[in-house]
Amino acid sequence: MANIIKRPPWSLPERMVTSESAYQNRRQFLQALGFSGGSLAMGLAGCSSSEDPNLASGEEPSDSNALEARYANGYPHARNPEFDRGWTLTNQRAAATYNNFFEFTTVKNRVYKMASALQTAPWEIGISGNLETPRKIDARELIESMPLEERVYRFRCVEAWAMVVPWTGFPLSKWLSKLKLWPEAKFVRFETFGARPEAIGMSDLRYPWPYSEGLTLAEAMNPLTFVATGIYGKPLPKQHGAPLRLVVPWKYGYKSIKSIARIEFTKKQPKTFWETLSAVEYPFESNVNPRIPHPRWSQATERMIDTGARVKTKLYNGYQDDVSHLYPAA
Ligand code: MTE
Repeated sequence: MANIIKRPPWSLPERMVTSESAYQNRRQFLQALGFSGGSLAMGLAGCSSSEDPNLASGEEPSDSNALEARYANGYPHARNPEFDRGWTLTNQRAAATYNNFFEFTTVKNRVYKMASALQTAPWEIGISGNLETPRKIDARELIESMPLEERVYRFRCVEAWAMVVPWTGFPLSKWLSKLKLWPEAKFVRFETFGARPEAIGMSDLRYPWPYSEGLTLAEAMNPLTFVATGIYGKPLPKQHGAPLRLVVPWKYGYKSIKSIARIEFTKKQPKTFWETLSAVEYPFESNVNPRIPHPRWSQATERMIDTGARVKTKLYNGYQDDVSHLYPAA
């Protein structure tokens, strides 16, 4: 972690957001674990990771990331015209080399390299909580049991960058409707894999691993909520969350949890990864809203990751007609 990190303008040095003594204690603790000052300097500024300016810009993300043969059946899948609004797609390479996947690194343009070590087959998904038959299912078995389609969605990160990408997958509601949930099931909690040797970012014990997220059952059943198994007409590359991840396009990107290893149906609202770190900055609901600034930056506009164009952010990321009924008090 000795590389020079270009930090985003909004990320403060940790000593400015933490008391000096807490900072020093944590610093000693992390140094004992072998973390360098470089990673500390990034601090836990929340979902505001950096880019490595030293990385050669001409490098291609390796195809072995993308083409896990086990998941390659039937691609590409037909695009669903209902979600095709004629938007220009984000450049594929830009999307594949500008990622957040904190289990590997907080440096966006290194994620695709580091995540290439992730073993995604076989891949078991645990299903538990308030339902008739808790069980485990293999990701391939699940994917093969669902009709796949392509949907073009806008995607808006809390860090104020955005992209337009064609996901392949199936609506989460189609999966949940097969599971015979009990009436007590009011929320769905999602979890990514636990500690693995290849996920070296997880050795940073300041984060509440494993990564987890949650939705109300009504949000989970909304027709927009999607389980992505592919992107740009191919199975998901590992940096995008292979073998399958959530896509909730009206919420900030951190709700779209990658590499799902467990789902659980709960009575109570689950605590999420980011909410545990800072409930003020990353509340459970986290709908895209240009009128509510993040405590440390504005959410009024967003930057397209390929062209750099700055565009106005829309309420619910432009999906008002689909989801505003879920939030009558807003
Ligand atoms: N899922 C896991 N397991 N770990 C993560 O660090 N980052 C989130 C989300 N899902 C993240 C995750 C954030 S902050 C964003 S913006 C999106 O993934 C980025 O998705 P992308 O890299 O496919 O563009």
